[in-house]
Amino acid sequence: MRIVIINGPNLNLLGTRSPDVYGSATLGDLETACQQWAHDAGCQADSYQSNHEGDIIDRLHAARDADGVVINPGAFTHYSYAIRDAIDAIGIPTVEVHISNVRDREPWRRVSVVSEVCSTTIFGRGISGYRDAIRHLAARAAWPVETITYGPDPDNVGDLRLPKADGPHPVAVLIHGGFWRNTAARDLLDPAAVDLTRRGWATWNIEFARVGSGGGWRATTADIASAIGALAEFGGGHHLDLNRIVLIGHGSGGHLALQAAVGIREVPIAAVAALAPIGDLEAAHRADIGDGAVESFLRRTPEQSPDRLIAASPIKNLPIGIPLLIVHGDQDEHVPAEISRSFAGRAADEGDTVIYHELEGVGHEALTDPATTAWEKVVDEVDRLR
Ligand code: DQA
Repeated sequence: MRIVIINGPNLNLLGTRSPDVYGSATLGDLETACQQWAHDAGCQADSYQSNHEGDIIDRLHAARDADGVVINPGAFTHYSYAIRDAIDAIGIPTVEVHISNVRDREPWRRVSVVSEVCSTTIFGRGISGYRDAIRHLAARAAWPVETITYGPDPDNVGDLRLPKADGPHPVAVLIHGGFWRNTAARDLLDPAAVDLTRRGWATWNIEFARVGSGGGWRATTADIASAIGALAEFGGGHHLDLNRIVLIGHGSGGHLALQAAVGIREVPIAAVAALAPIGDLEAAHRADIGDGAVESFLRRTPEQSPDRLIAASPIKNLPIGIPLLIVHGDQDEHVPAEISRSFAGRAADEGDTVIYHELEGVGHEALTDPATTAWEKVVDEVDRLR
């Protein structure tokens, strides 16, 4: 698989250009890192940088025989319809990447004229956004995917992947983490989705409103409910077994999965697998996880709004009444395992069926990374839920 990486104007100045915004890595560092990430993903990458619109268009045309393009069009993003048309014309899966959080800067940077023709947009993750873009392209190439719209907003979409065997298929609904913020997106669960689909699960990897892009506890929870409810509409046509739906959420997505299990009526939920979940918003707020993440999700501190906490915190809604699998690494650097340990204990006390595994020496990301033994443990347990 060959990927072409194109960096637009002023990115040659990386390292010295506004390091507070773009970091200290130079273009050379970035291109070297991309080589390694491509290698890890089983791809070969060619990198180009240009300050000229026409050059970038020529590079895109020359990429017609590649399998994917990663492009950071720099400021051209915000107004170059010529680059947009070139991406559209070559018809190669293309990921738009921005190092900075373009949604959290000047208003004109929120506009992208290329997003619509790209298979996804990754922003605000520093240079690791290029790694995620490469992984996304590798996952797209590894297994066919259909993106389905479940609502009116651009974030109301999900990726459906179907196993090769005949259905009806058990369904894994994947809910990504990232502290409910818009810099995280469903591409983070692409490798997990591909692996689960290979193992016989239909995977529905959903996007939803996030903090910074119209999200917050009410809008985000509503989107999650609509995305899961949409299975009732398109499930039959895709041979999905709606009596075997398992919600799998990671981090804040684990929180959303647990909360969804409390509220969903449209389809039955067979089980929830919560991986390093934030099951207790009050405890998470006290531990100041994700630099004020709970407060920005609730738009209040828990003390300011006890009602909101009751509506939004899974531990306040026990028993959930559905079998729960909770897995947490004891070396989790984002969400302390203590939160899951006491959540699992309380859920069991309240009458829920809970399996809790605390994995030794395991951090946060390993739980959804098919290259790890932690993931093996997760899928072993998840496979028992179908
Ligand atoms: C950028 C964001 C653009 O707004 C800006 O013009 C750039 C870099 C980024 O990577 O964050 O040049 O694309």
